[in-house]
Amino acid sequence: MTPVIFLDKIEKRYESGSVVTEVLKGVSFSIFPGELVSIMGPSGAGKSTLLYILGCLARPSAGQYKLDGVDVGKLSDEELSRLRNAKLGFVFQSFHLIPQYTALENVLLPTVYRRGRKQEKKRDIEKAKELLNLVGLEARYHYRPGELSGGQKQRVAIARALMNDPEVILADEPTGNLDSHQSDEIVRLLLDLNERGRTIIMVTHDPEVGRQARRMITIRDGLIQSDVPCS
Ligand SMILES: Nc1ncnc2c1ncn2[C@@H]1O[C@H](COP(=O)(O)OP(=O)(O)O)[C@@H](O)[C@H]1O
Ligand SMILES: [Mg+2]
Repeated sequence: MTPVIFLDKIEKRYESGSVVTEVLKGVSFSIFPGELVSIMGPSGAGKSTLLYILGCLARPSAGQYKLDGVDVGKLSDEELSRLRNAKLGFVFQSFHLIPQYTALENVLLPTVYRRGRKQEKKRDIEKAKELLNLVGLEARYHYRPGELSGGQKQRVAIARALMNDPEVILADEPTGNLDSHQSDEIVRLLLDLNERGRTIIMVTHDPEVGRQARRMITIRDGLIQSDVPCS
């Protein structure tokens, strides 16, 4: 089987003036379709940087990254964003919803670039509603983020991440802004999506959340410290 994610000796450094920060110092791993992986580590370890690279939102300074067999280092920015839209769905700690839009409109955001015909739009709306049903928000289509709880906002964000049928969901501290009850619900939703076959990679510094994955990769000071199955 081809890994959906293949990283080989990925490095990332930031330079500002004469100061060079080495954030990732040679990270290698593969993730296969259907895996549920948590990426753990202390604050500043480089987890978000790694997720940004996985998400093709940043390019590594060195090393090779293949997404679904495609060497992303060889792609132009435009090809990269097309690949990103086709293959990846994102969930962030602070939800990143558009406050003026309803839940339904937020879920539809990944489709606005498709400039579809009427028929396609209708299908997109039906699908967005199905996804909101899937995440338990069937009664909230027309609510705006300000009218939703944190957990409900994250459900909208998860529905949005699923809109383009991505191969992989990337989540950066998806429970970071939630109380423990809502956090449990979001983790259960992610586990459920994984049961349905979705590949999920979630960054967290919360061990309670991290050990619910099937595999835990811990990074520290820009290197993999451990990569183990969860019991
Ligand atoms: N754009 C940037 N420019 C310079 N340094 C950065 C930038 N982004 C992150 N860093 C540094 O990289 C290190 C790791 O950051 P990050 O990946 O956000 O860690 P984590 O998500 O594990 O807390 C930190 O020391 C941070 O200050
Ligand atoms: Mg982070």
